[in-house]
Amino acid sequence: MKPVEIAQGVYRLSANIGSRDLFEGIWPIPNGVSLNAYIVKGDNKTALIDLVKDWEGAARGITEQLREAGLGLGDIDYLVLNHMEPDHTGWLAELKKQQPKLQILCSKKAVPMVEAFYGITDSVKAVGSGDVLDLGGKQLVFEDAPNVHWPETMVTYEAVTKTLFSCDAFGSFGQVHEAVFDDQLSELEMRFFEQETLRYYANIVSSFSIFVQRAIKKLEALDISVIAPSHGILWRKNPDKIIRDYIRLASYMNGPAEEEVTLVWSSMYGNTESLVEAVRAGVEAEGLPIHIHRVPQEHVSFVLASAWRSSGIIVGMPTYEYRMFPPMYTVLDILERSHVMNRKAFRFGSYGWSGGAQKQFDAFTQAMKWDCLGSVEFQGAPKQPDHETAFARARELAKQVKSWKA
Ligand SMILES: Cc1cc2nc3c(=O)[nH]c(=O)nc-3n(C[C@H](O)[C@H](O)[C@H](O)COP(=O)(O)O)c2cc1C
Ligand SMILES: [Fe+2]
Ligand SMILES: [Fe+2]
Repeated sequence: MKPVEIAQGVYRLSANIGSRDLFEGIWPIPNGVSLNAYIVKGDNKTALIDLVKDWEGAARGITEQLREAGLGLGDIDYLVLNHMEPDHTGWLAELKKQQPKLQILCSKKAVPMVEAFYGITDSVKAVGSGDVLDLGGKQLVFEDAPNVHWPETMVTYEAVTKTLFSCDAFGSFGQVHEAVFDDQLSELEMRFFEQETLRYYANIVSSFSIFVQRAIKKLEALDISVIAPSHGILWRKNPDKIIRDYIRLASYMNGPAEEEVTLVWSSMYGNTESLVEAVRAGVEAEGLPIHIHRVPQEHVSFVLASAWRSSGIIVGMPTYEYRMFPPMYTVLDILERSHVMNRKAFRFGSYGWSGGAQKQFDAFTQAMKWDCLGSVEFQGAPKQPDHETAFARARELAKQVKSWKA
């Protein structure tokens, strides 16, 4: 990969990670992910903004790109750490070893984390909202953006080229190849990144939606020409698009989201499964799109992405040892942690003798403020009336989703 000059003296260095690993040890990346770092070369000083983890040769790749941009590690005066998560800092100890004069700039909350993660205490300086670093002909302005994604997160704005280095915010999964900027993408590629932005948002950022809203309010004051995140493509033709997309995605936390329904179901012996078609037909009778996921066969990453965008959620699940079927418990736990709040919902499912799943499900839905339309529970195999109730309830849910106004 080559360094990309995104503005005079500003370069993107990037590494594409393949599909073998899980991101954060949990999320599948079937289309890989990119890690972006940035060089800002001033007349007097040079800064590197964010780093990589040495993952599938990323550190070597970044070093080579740096060389192609005419720089060695010894030429980096400042390292700005917008965020301490190891996908952007993992290579820090090694870089510091190779460039001992390196000055590290990070938020106040990140200072003890630099020591805790990498044992580095010297040449670490805290910066905060409004602080400016003059590189000569380039000016870095720092802005705290707590909890987008960790508490110590900040963003960095270069005032001359009007470039916003937003770290995780406005990022996406998916490798990036020749097309690096929004205006270089075909329509198909743009749709790909929209999907990967949604899944990245739902998986990584959604819990912090309130903080995303706060950060975006702060950024409104900035005149932004380019948004340069640490994952995914850069936005220069229409930086406003990704900001609006993020505003919309953050708003889904409290519903309504999109006029769509997610059906997530699990079944051991096919009794709960028997109603899946009736439920699908009920939703489709109202003309709404439905995303169907079977658990545990499909990873929760994809369920969460669908649930985040859907105003309606239907859960199909049997009772297991007096409680919810365990893989569905895990899915609901993750939906709760991710703040998938305020949805139209109901559950259908089978039990063998006395049930138990519904009681536990009710506690979950209460915590998530889901508006439940009642359940379709049955002993053993569903009978004809159960099919009819499942259809009717799914249709009713779809109707409520359609008439739900913010
Ligand atoms: C390991 C296991 C544990 C179960 N625990 C309960 C239970 O605690 N209470 C209950 O009413 N049924 C229990 N059942 C019965 C199932 O809920 C019942 O077979 C149901 O029809 C399964 O639905 P499915 O065919 O969609 O998997 C259990 C079944 C299995 C296999
Ligand atoms: Fe992060
Ligand atoms: Fe990240």
